[in-house]
Amino acid sequence: MLVAGNWKMNGLLRDAEYLADKLASRNIQNSKTEVVIFPPFLHISAVSRIVQKANIQVGGQNCSALKSGANTGEISCEMLLDVGCSHVLVGHSERRSLHGETETSVANKYAAALDVGLTPILCVGESLEQHDLGKTQEVVLRQLSAVKETVGLGGLCSGIIAYEPLWSIGTGLAALPSQAQSVHQTIRSCLGSPGAKTRVLYGGSLNSENSLAMFVEKDIDGGLVGGASLQSEEFLRIIKLAEQL
Ligand code: 13P
Repeated sequence: MLVAGNWKMNGLLRDAEYLADKLASRNIQNSKTEVVIFPPFLHISAVSRIVQKANIQVGGQNCSALKSGANTGEISCEMLLDVGCSHVLVGHSERRSLHGETETSVANKYAAALDVGLTPILCVGESLEQHDLGKTQEVVLRQLSAVKETVGLGGLCSGIIAYEPLWSIGTGLAALPSQAQSVHQTIRSCLGSPGAKTRVLYGGSLNSENSLAMFVEKDIDGGLVGGASLQSEEFLRIIKLAEQL
């Protein structure tokens, strides 16, 4: 199981340090459940220092596909690695819809992350309209294929996939576990045998009330938590649920 917390663009440095302290002070040392948190770029160094001995990993919410140079405002994968990151989110729906990321740029970022040894978490998911038109599987498969074409099946399978239906993000309306499981099964079959160990996470309005029902589904290997990861007690409750499995 893997439980990830995407802090998005929330909090000031003192809030990030406070939250990291709270998470680090709880004993999740011997847990089989992996925990990864994604603070805003500016807070990564401080957070990473606080949680480094607490069996909690840190990641970036985005990265550049480029290595270095004249790219004002961008952050490279190597920079993330350098400040203590092990993971990076790639193609989050907010990046795709609000910041114009295309299938190609997402695929290039995924490749850049693998290149330096960061584990990319590829976010896929359909909009409400696509959902209502019954196009969920088609959209998700297209998003996976774009990355597979760039890094190959082996490359795709060496990262992590997060299924996050857009209609569920920040709405309080999580997918039904059976709905999510059916998409996860499609993702799993697309990965084939090289993907037998690839983690496929669910994200979208997860909280301590609905996470366990999600986590017990066969092809759901954990969660990518947004809002509920900003409250230490709630996030720790979700981690505890994952630890039961
Ligand atoms: P919420 O848990 O706030 O719905 O956000 C999910 C998400 O986008 C995580 O990346």
